[in-house]
Amino acid sequence: MADELTTEETHDREREEAAARRFHPSAAREAVAPAAPDEHAVASIFDCRKVAVFYSEKRAIRDVDIDLRQNEISALIGPSGCGKSTFLRCLNRMNDLIPGARVDGEIVYHGENLYASNIDPVQVRKRIGMVFQKPNPFPKSIYDNIAFGPRVMGMKGSMDEIVEGALRRGALWDEVKDRLKTNAFGMSGGQQQRLCIARALATEPDVLLMDEPCSALDPISTGRIEDLMLELKTKISIVIVTHNMQQAARVSDRTAFFTVELDETGKNRTGAVVEYDRTDKIFTNPSDSRTQDYVSGKFG
Ligand SMILES: Nc1ncnc2c1ncn2[C@@H]1O[C@H](COP(=O)(O)OP(=O)(O)OP(=O)(O)O)[C@@H](O)[C@H]1O
Ligand SMILES: [Mg+2]
Repeated sequence: MADELTTEETHDREREEAAARRFHPSAAREAVAPAAPDEHAVASIFDCRKVAVFYSEKRAIRDVDIDLRQNEISALIGPSGCGKSTFLRCLNRMNDLIPGARVDGEIVYHGENLYASNIDPVQVRKRIGMVFQKPNPFPKSIYDNIAFGPRVMGMKGSMDEIVEGALRRGALWDEVKDRLKTNAFGMSGGQQQRLCIARALATEPDVLLMDEPCSALDPISTGRIEDLMLELKTKISIVIVTHNMQQAARVSDRTAFFTVELDETGKNRTGAVVEYDRTDKIFTNPSDSRTQDYVSGKFG
């Protein structure tokens, strides 16, 4: 019969469904203890052990050993070239897309090795969304920007409701509800960035990775995005790279300070984490003098 699946198609579908289940946020949340106020009881979302990244022969970061917690905002700070973006891209396997890039060490996401051979990087990127420095809407209508991911994923339900829900979560609905069919390029920079956040949220990710999401925005748009991040963290986990110390201090729960180290030859520069702790500790009473110098503006 026409609508019967072949054995191969059934297997493809089963594989796709198993992969989607593996990274579905509700399945993932059931697998870990609920977040509790006790510091040590807050579940980790990523356990990173001895993570190193190489671009061909050149090692960009080494020995990153941190665990990022669920329903928290984790900030990555440090001078230019210390490997913040490189590390962030490890968390949703975006480095796979860079020819010559290699990730060593282990990243465990909800108890599973993110780099295991049975993990599909496409599924990973659906569950772990990313927002970049420069807003990058598609040359399509506001509606179609949001609907794109859900359509590709074949998400069930009314597309109008999915689009409205994502735009509401992106704190953009009231501003655009009367112009959904107009081109996204007609929006302001701050609106475009919230559109990109809403687009990432439309596929119901579990984690949002943000690489300097406000660096091209004015203070009012920046404030809106910070408020949005604080709202979103009740549902998802966020990892943000920022050069703005006040921003890290305002929004994040934990901060990792990266620096660039020179090897003994003085030729090779490698990024490494100096200190990772609660944000208030990093900014008021850090353990390492290099962190103190950086957060007080003496260096970097
Ligand atoms: N695609 C790439 N190919 C080769 N080397 C790269 C690539 N991307 C980054 N690097 C190198 O890896 C190191 C870390 O770069 P990365 O962009 O991660 O730093 P960053 O901390 O994000 O810097 P910035 O604050 O300027 O964005 C740098 O030496 C950089 O030149
Ligand atoms: Mg960067």
